[in-house]
This record gives sequence, C-alpha cells and structure tokens, in this order.
Amino acid sequence: LGAVAFDRELAIPDLAESRVEDGVRVFDLTMQEGRSDLGRGPDTPTWGINGAHLAPTLRAARGERVRVRVTNRLGEASTLHWHGMHVPARMDGGPHQMIDPGDTWTPDWRIDQPAASLWYHPHPHGQTARHVYRGLAGMFLIDDDAESALDLPRDYGIDDLPMIVQDRKFHGDGTLDASTSLFQSEGIIGDTVLVNGTPGPYVDVTTRTVRLRLLNGSNTRPYHFEFDDHREFAVIGTDGGLLPAPVSVRSLPLSPGERAEVVVAFRPGERVRLQSTPTPGGSRFAGGDDHLEIAEFRAAHHLGGVATVPDRLVAVPPIPEAAATVTRSFALGGTSINGKAMDMARIDEVITAGATEIWTVANSGDGVHNFHIHDVRFQVLDIDGGAPPPHLRGWKDTVWVPRDSTLRLIMRFGHHTDTEVPYMFHCHLLRHEDEGMMGQFLVVPPGS
Ligand code: C2O
Ligand code: CU
Repeated sequence: LGAVAFDRELAIPDLAESRVEDGVRVFDLTMQEGRSDLGRGPDTPTWGINGAHLAPTLRAARGERVRVRVTNRLGEASTLHWHGMHVPARMDGGPHQMIDPGDTWTPDWRIDQPAASLWYHPHPHGQTARHVYRGLAGMFLIDDDAESALDLPRDYGIDDLPMIVQDRKFHGDGTLDASTSLFQSEGIIGDTVLVNGTPGPYVDVTTRTVRLRLLNGSNTRPYHFEFDDHREFAVIGTDGGLLPAPVSVRSLPLSPGERAEVVVAFRPGERVRLQSTPTPGGSRFAGGDDHLEIAEFRAAHHLGGVATVPDRLVAVPPIPEAAATVTRSFALGGTSINGKAMDMARIDEVITAGATEIWTVANSGDGVHNFHIHDVRFQVLDIDGGAPPPHLRGWKDTVWVPRDSTLRLIMRFGHHTDTEVPYMFHCHLLRHEDEGMMGQFLVVPPGS
C-alpha cells in the first residue's frame, strides 16, 4: 500500500452544540451532501452531518435526557442509529425508523448506562454500507461520575482524541470507489486510511499521556493496532465502558463497529507511528494481511498533563452464568444467520424485559464475521470454551467471531419494551448486513 506522508494535522470532529430545554439536552443534526478533501483534491463528493463529511461528536452525561432532531437533506431516505445505546426500540434509528428526504425525526431518551465511547451512523435496510462509506458516522460520548473521578486524560481534542479509523478507495478522478472485486465477498477494502477524515494525519502531542478513543468505522476492514516501536499501551475501555483495570498490550485488534479506549505514554521530543499490522497467523481474508500506516504522534519537548493511569478503573461485575434463564444459538454462515436472511416483517427472537440470557454465536468457518446486538451490552463468557483475553473482559456490543469458532455472550436485557418495533442483531461487516445477515428481536413485558 502507498507511502503515507503524515503532512496533515489530524482533524478533530467538533463537539455538537446543544441547548437544554425543559431539562432535556437538545441536539440538531442535519444529514447533507457536500465535497471534501480526503487527499485527492478538494472535490470528493461526500456526505456528512452538520458539515460535508462525518459528524460532530455528541456528548451527554448518564442520567440526562437527550433529544436529537435529525433532519434529512440527502436525496434519499436514511436513518440514524445510536450504536451501543440502551434506548427504546422506536428511538433506535434502525431500518424501521426511516427519515424521508426533507423530514425530521426527533427521538428522545434518558441516558442510562456507564461512561463510554459510542458512535452513530445510518442503518437503512440494504443501504447501510453505502451511507456509512459516503461519510455518515460520528461519535457519541457518555460521561458519568465514576469516570470523572478517575485521573485520566479527558481534555477533548488535546489529550483525549476521538479516532474514527476508516479505509477508502478512490477512482482516478478523486471520487470514492465503492466497488468490490469478485474475490472480496466481505465488501470494500480500501488502500487509504482516514482518521476523522484526515488521510495520513500527524498529531502534535503536548501531554505525557494521551487517551485515544479508537473506533473501527470501516465497512469491512479489521485493524490490528500497534505502534511502530512495539511499545506497550494501556487498554482502559471496551465498546460499552471502562474496564475494571487497565490491560497492558502491544497490539490490539478491532473489527468494524468495535471501539477501544487506550492510553499511550509519550517521551519528550519523540515521534511514534500508529500502524495496523498483519493479523498474527494470517487472517485468510482480504485486507487482513495488509500493513497500514495510520497516524504519526509528534511529542513536544515539554510535556504536561496526566502522568500515569490509575490501577483500578470501575467495577464491571461479571454476570453470573447461573443467572441466565434462556440460551439462544446463532449460526453465522454465508450471508445469513441460522439459515435465514433478514426479513423486516419477521421477528426472530422474543425476549422478556429484564431477562438474563446466553447467546451462543458460531461461525462455521465459511466467511469472516463479527456480531453486534442493539440495545444491550454483553460480556464474553468464553471463546471456544476458553476465557476471553483480558482486553475483552468489559462491556461489549460488537465482537469478532473468528472462523471455526464459537463465542458465548451473556447479557441482561433492560426494560424498554415494545411489542411491535424490534431491535436488530447482525454482522457488522456492512456488506453482509446489507445482504441479509441480520435478524430482529422484540423486548416485551413479562407475561406477554
Ligand atoms: Cu452499528 Cu446495527 O449497527
Ligand atoms: Cu459477516
């Protein structure tokens, strides 16, 4: 893959403006078309929210009520889904909440989950890959007291950086190339990596530690993040919140849709590169063996800020296996789940509010998949019967399901019930999702 110049400063998405009306934090978002400079000249047609590309960072605290007024100024219908959010099904922004061109959709809900780095993106049935690839994606940060009591880097855009990592492919004229070859049944694999829309960015580091909120916002490509000097860094959070304690690693895999919060320590004056290295042992799929240069960190000669990461972070009590009353099985194969392709008129699973369940998710080995469940956060009980690695022992909403492997996930469903409008579960390789590797579940009141 091409050499990376590191000649552009990393763009930081703006924090979305909000106002409080009658105790509700209100955001205004407009989905629109525009043109952006993604490294191939200023005129690449892109889609964005409140701008030409990507979206502002939404931020709210646990316990707050939020309302988002989403206006669609695109030429076609879309949706906006709050990935990782515990939210009533009608507010979820999945394929059942289409927003027609010119219309405004106004979901509201109370934030009721721990501090975490969530994200948001369109979810129109059969069109998600195209809408996300055009540029519709942003982060949604949740704050809470447990997180703010910790001595962690949290100065947004200074030592606390959102990193939306996406690969793109371009035609010679600078337009985005969304084609996939016959041999890429997984979908688009790009040769240019953007972080927050910036190709080959550098980051000026002014503090001794920097927190990166890594989001794999790519359609297909998994990353295996590593620094060029193989330094250790601390994983402090997973998709759904902080870990009980930092986990020191030298590399970290993230599949599409997954997030991790990491803290990296820098020495004065040094330059270090974040890369994606080939998956150990060979990944056996398009893109998995690529070596990618992602970003260069340039530390100043005098560094301030937080020096070390606390040893203990937050309580993440394991959900006891004995608490589970229902077990369900999901076989991922081809582009279907349990042999069924997504049908918006079919409910696949009916779940009782408040239930603790174990979901067994198996990849029979014919393809590359991960698994995402709306509304709940889960814990990984085991992978092929063995304990998950320490960096996966936190709250998750999306997880890699390696070929020929079986994961058991445990989760407790919340109390947002709806006997008509379902939530989704699906593979987050967006082409698979669009081709039907998705199912629907209702969360219903006990006894119904
Ligand atoms: Cu990030 Cu159902 O999606
Ligand atoms: Cu898949």
